[in-house]
Amino acid sequence: MESELVKAIHNRTARIVVIGLGYVGLPVACMFAKAGFQVVGIRRNSEKIAQINRGICPIEGKEPGLPELLAEVIREGRLKATTDYTECRQAQIALVAVETPVDKATRKPGYEALQAALQELGQNLQPGTLVIIESTIAPRTMETVVKPVLEQASGLKVNEDFYLANCPERVMPGKLLANIEHCSRVVGGMSPETAQAAVELYRCIVKADLDPTDCLTAELVKTVENTYRDVQIAFANEVALLCENVGADVWAVRQLVNKSPQRDMHLPGPGVGGHCIPKDPWLLVHGAQGNFEAKLIPTARAINDSMPLHIVELVEEALRQAGKEIQEARIAVLGYAYKENTDDTRNSPAIPLIRHLEELGAEVTVHDPYVRGYDGDPKKMLTGRDCVVVMAAHDQYRELDLENLKAQLRLPVLVDGRNVFGMKQAHEAGFIYKGVGNV
Ligand SMILES: NC(=O)c1ccc[n+]([C@@H]2O[C@H](COP(=O)([O-])OP(=O)(O)OC[C@H]3O[C@@H](n4cnc5c(N)ncnc54)[C@H](O)[C@@H]3O)[C@@H](O)[C@H]2O)c1
Repeated sequence: MESELVKAIHNRTARIVVIGLGYVGLPVACMFAKAGFQVVGIRRNSEKIAQINRGICPIEGKEPGLPELLAEVIREGRLKATTDYTECRQAQIALVAVETPVDKATRKPGYEALQAALQELGQNLQPGTLVIIESTIAPRTMETVVKPVLEQASGLKVNEDFYLANCPERVMPGKLLANIEHCSRVVGGMSPETAQAAVELYRCIVKADLDPTDCLTAELVKTVENTYRDVQIAFANEVALLCENVGADVWAVRQLVNKSPQRDMHLPGPGVGGHCIPKDPWLLVHGAQGNFEAKLIPTARAINDSMPLHIVELVEEALRQAGKEIQEARIAVLGYAYKENTDDTRNSPAIPLIRHLEELGAEVTVHDPYVRGYDGDPKKMLTGRDCVVVMAAHDQYRELDLENLKAQLRLPVLVDGRNVFGMKQAHEAGFIYKGVGNV
């Protein structure tokens, strides 16, 4: 059966549905459409469906090539967006790219979107279809959630009537298309033949290694690679706190550490955000069985979660040096998105930072050129402020002239969570400056 599918992939007659049209699903749908497939994207009802069908990209940060590609594939009639799951009946391939968050209190996977998508896909699943989960999932989810939900909803049997694979995404907002094209992928199949069929599919859009494996390995690889990043960032943050404690500059330390062979100390910062890194370590831990107890991973999470509060402490200290108490202070936060030059605000460390500052009585205004509601004139919102806090290294902030910035402020206080300015430059411009790992 897989051989027929592979033929339909090679001659582009296989029809593809992509369920979930967010940061992952939308660019993937566009790339397959560009590769010559007929693609239908399914997402929850929203005005974004109409927007996509008009060829307008709903992702507002800098996404090189994506707005143009979307406009092209819509114009050519190769992609359409809908809420209608009956479209799955015409498809030979179904990709699932819905969100997979964790519950804030229990840290267990919140698979409501995944279960709902699988249920509706299952009810419309045709024999011979290849279903690929692109969402990030906890180890063993393919076996314990995806397979039973699809089999029950469809009445079909995996490996006999339909095929199941897990091909997690490695994209990062800001480089979505480039990452899809140039990052290698693991392709886990419920059988080696299915993994190979999925490899043939991704070969149409990926110009890097495609590594066939089993589903459990693919689930582990994805959650481990993001956990690796979280743990590395936590290490950098802990070193930054230690440097503050002894009066050293973490950026100078890091640069020299990384001259040592096989060292790659990550960047410290004001916290970890985005949809993935703050939750994928919990997905990994959730996948463990029996009485296994993770120790390092939860500790790393706790360190990274504490960083926005640490920024609050730096703000308080810097203001005190300027003779101002926080409850009387007017504070400007630059950057609401978690990542430079993107509009992605999910789990942004700016959110708890702003909440804590306000709880302490500060008056907070926020600017972000990529986030609706915060994208006004930065000059206006900076005028008369007592302190500027940099939370995202957007290009627009790197271009700010410190002399001009100081002239606008009521007090020259700068707290830099992203090392956008650096202490020397800030001191030369006459600022009271505190940076993460450099006070
Ligand atoms: N954002 C990233 O950079 C990134 C990178 C790698 C992997 N991932 C993983 O990919 C998955 C998707 O992430 P994302 O950032 O694209 O999320 P997102 O929130 O941007 O998009 C999710 C999409 O799924 C749709 N959706 C939700 N439930 C649905 C349903 N029942 N039926 C149809 N559509 C439904 C939503 O409308 C939305 O379009 C997650 O598992 C995430 O961990 C994300």
